[in-house]
Amino acid sequence: MPKIVTLPGDGIGPEVTAAAVQVLREVAPDVTIEEHLIGGVAFDTHGDPFPQPTRDALKDADAVLLGTVGGAQDSAWNLLPRHQRPESGLLALRKALGCYANLRPVRVQPGLEHLSPLKPELARGVDILIVRELLGGVYFDGDRKIDGDTAYNTMRYTTAEVERVAKVAFWAAEQRRGRVTSVDKANVLEVSELWRRDVTALRDRDYRGIHLNHEYVDSVAMLIVSDPSRYDVIVTENLFGDILSDLAAVIPGSLGLMPSASLGDGAGLFEPIHGSAPDIAGKGVANPAAAIMSAGMLLRHGLKRPDAANQIDRAVALALRAQPTRDLGGTADTQTFTRAVLNALESSPAVG
Ligand code: NAD
Ligand code: IPM
Ligand code: MN
Repeated sequence: MPKIVTLPGDGIGPEVTAAAVQVLREVAPDVTIEEHLIGGVAFDTHGDPFPQPTRDALKDADAVLLGTVGGAQDSAWNLLPRHQRPESGLLALRKALGCYANLRPVRVQPGLEHLSPLKPELARGVDILIVRELLGGVYFDGDRKIDGDTAYNTMRYTTAEVERVAKVAFWAAEQRRGRVTSVDKANVLEVSELWRRDVTALRDRDYRGIHLNHEYVDSVAMLIVSDPSRYDVIVTENLFGDILSDLAAVIPGSLGLMPSASLGDGAGLFEPIHGSAPDIAGKGVANPAAAIMSAGMLLRHGLKRPDAANQIDRAVALALRAQPTRDLGGTADTQTFTRAVLNALESSPAVG
């Protein structure tokens, strides 16, 4: 029986995770679900945002479903030493799981173009997969400091780190439209020069069937919202991928529609890309679609159950049509939307 560890975390995390768990129990009633603490709530309980009981629970987990971590800008958590802050708990979790490739799909379902603030002809048919490197770059490099009037972080990559994430991007492109855009800042940064060189060498060596091109991150920030259909798979380093994926959320219409899967050496980590949304936390109005679709990605990539994953994707699309949430211009609250997903599951047969 597969074991899933859920880590609801802070802010709207518990609200959207509860919705995802309801859906998960419906389509995969045999899985064991064990809930643990992460983030600010874990610090408040254990003095550690990634405490030992949570680490222990991961040892025999088949997959991890995360909510969100972090507080508002004025939260007392932001005054803690960096390693005790909620976000550090999430980074430590990613590291502990060895999840170096973060898949962030950006999809506009047919008939849901109206949810996008972009013109329907721009939003129609968009299907991008952002593959974000998740364990390197400025996020994790030890060469970092704030000292008086000077501070620095270091963006460093090795060939091995570039190759392992690029392989995931090429593998994904093989199942899709066969195109990879590698995003960097090679006109300015040496680290991007290495990134570009190694991605190109890997394609030339092992993935000759894939069409690869390179673009600069500033230009991609413009093109991804003005001409999103030009992209199939995007592969990029950690910080660029963080920023571009929030920007790409504009295309389907909300951060609440952006799920993710983080894959690597062991159990995968599945989480919405949005944050803890302190402005709406506790009100029961958060859009749980990203969390529910992350549970879908967990079934697809973590438990290798594509039929159940497809069932979830179809049900979410129906619910978005029937009961859009407030971030999408609708009126449905979290529970109303979740019920619509559950209803859609009941009325749709469990076939691939
Ligand atoms: P955020 O993503 O929490 O919110 C940005 C805006 O999007 C807010 O207006 C929010 O209400 C809205 N929003 C986000 N998710 C939504 C949803 N599911 N339904 C409806 N509206 C939604 O970003 P922020 O305000 O910059 O960050 C808040 C906290 O979350 C910070 O502490 C930050 O560090 C943390 N954070 C955590 C994660 C994570 O846990 N993976 C990701 C991003 C930010
Ligand atoms: C995300 C978040 C995290 C990141 C933060 C909360 C550490 O923004 O998952 O996109 O920057 O990776
Ligand atoms: Mn982010």
